[in-house]
Amino acid sequence: MNDLIFPTKAESKEEIYKALKGLKKEDIPWQSGKVMAYVYKTIPEAHELANEAYTLFLTENGLDPTQFPSLLQLEKSVIAMVADLLNGGTNAVGNCTSGGTESVMLAVKTARDRARDLFPHIIDPEIIIPETAHPCFHKAGHYLNVKVKMIPVDRTTFKADVNAMEAAITDQTILLVGSAPSYTHGVIDNIEAIASLAQANNLLCHVDACVGGMFIPFAKMLDYPMPAFDFSVPGVSSISCDLHKFGYVPKGCSSIIYRNKELRQYQLFSCSLWPGYTIVNPTVLSSKTGGPMAAAWSLFKFLGTEGYKNAVKACMEGRQVVIDALKDIPELYLLGEPAIGMLSFASNSAAVNVFELTERMKAKGWFIQAQLKSNVSDAGIHLSISHFNAPHMASLMVDLKAIVEELKKETDKSQQMVFDPAMIKNMMANFTPDMLDSLEQILGKNDKGIPDNFVVVNKILNTLEPVQRDKLLVAFINKMFSVEK
Ligand SMILES: Cc1ncc(COP(=O)(O)O)c(C=O)c1O
Repeated sequence: MNDLIFPTKAESKEEIYKALKGLKKEDIPWQSGKVMAYVYKTIPEAHELANEAYTLFLTENGLDPTQFPSLLQLEKSVIAMVADLLNGGTNAVGNCTSGGTESVMLAVKTARDRARDLFPHIIDPEIIIPETAHPCFHKAGHYLNVKVKMIPVDRTTFKADVNAMEAAITDQTILLVGSAPSYTHGVIDNIEAIASLAQANNLLCHVDACVGGMFIPFAKMLDYPMPAFDFSVPGVSSISCDLHKFGYVPKGCSSIIYRNKELRQYQLFSCSLWPGYTIVNPTVLSSKTGGPMAAAWSLFKFLGTEGYKNAVKACMEGRQVVIDALKDIPELYLLGEPAIGMLSFASNSAAVNVFELTERMKAKGWFIQAQLKSNVSDAGIHLSISHFNAPHMASLMVDLKAIVEELKKETDKSQQMVFDPAMIKNMMANFTPDMLDSLEQILGKNDKGIPDNFVVVNKILNTLEPVQRDKLLVAFINKMFSVEK
């Protein structure tokens, strides 16, 4: 890298754009529609509009809605539209946030602060989540000092075991959680049972619909069978719904919706202990751009119900293509019954290693996401099928099948470990960050500090226990983001 010191000489706009575009060249080429994660896209005209709307409100500051009533109006309007989709009735309120993680953290903060206010006997608050819930709940627990109890999911359906949830409730419990759906398997938990359990125990119930909130309502309109998951279910107190996933809004846009404002009051933070301007923040961010809200508002109006239904129909058809094609590849099997354009599958053949499969698919221009083995399911591959991915699903499955055949013919090679798992486990037992150097020799790395060989990275991670994985990942990412001058 030659740009590690603060520029002493001004460069032209042209030079800067050129350099920026050059940087993008090594990114995964999501524009092809063959990248099944990270990027959600619908029709190009919608994104052009959203980008323009985003830049139109880039500079306005959501820190103070009294001075930028435009942002107040946009946010209230976006939230009312999402609440309408989620059957929020006349009392639902909410806020736009920077992403699903922030929405979930706020739901947990709300539950914690409500308990502090109403239930003084709760000194060690805990939330109960299915083991398939997104890690942002653990992050919320970590940041907010709230205990996170995991309950199992069924090993075939991957739905939360509601009896186990009931058994896990104590007098310190503040919140029950269900996913609609979980990211890993695209499976929707039994929200009605979880919400009813919450009601019976006077607890809050949060539905994480970060991926499903902008998908399931339109799938229902299209008559796909979908379970009840929103505010129509008595006992659901809050819902996180990302707009930057199947809502197709540019990133930095999610929503947290509550059944009423009496609940939402606990989300707010106000601080009058300093001599400066008045601070009262509904969300985590203080200063914030109006871009995402303007983009969401514009996209909703531009696409309307019909536009989103078209997108959902394409995703559901793409999902079906994958499910049908998997039946023709006996070495791979679908995990659970995915409800939306999001699914995963695993291998039941020693000859077909999923990490080899993902890398070979990458060489053919596809990005499919590797999933490590867990207590819940085997190592597998995840696909998020958004509108612009959907037409590619048939050719994706043709390539996938061909690579499975290729791997079957070279069993020895695909099983080759290139490292000794016992040695790695041993090393991790006494791991210190400086051991990364020896590990990097096995992994290889490019000039950005990114490993060359993700097959080996994933195989190593796959042999480790979660605690060891986390230790290694933290050390690795800490190093990757460091500048070596
Ligand atoms: C179900 C679910 N919840 C929460 C999140 C976190 O969202 P974000 O990455 O926008 O913070 C995700 C992300 O994929 C998710 O799938």
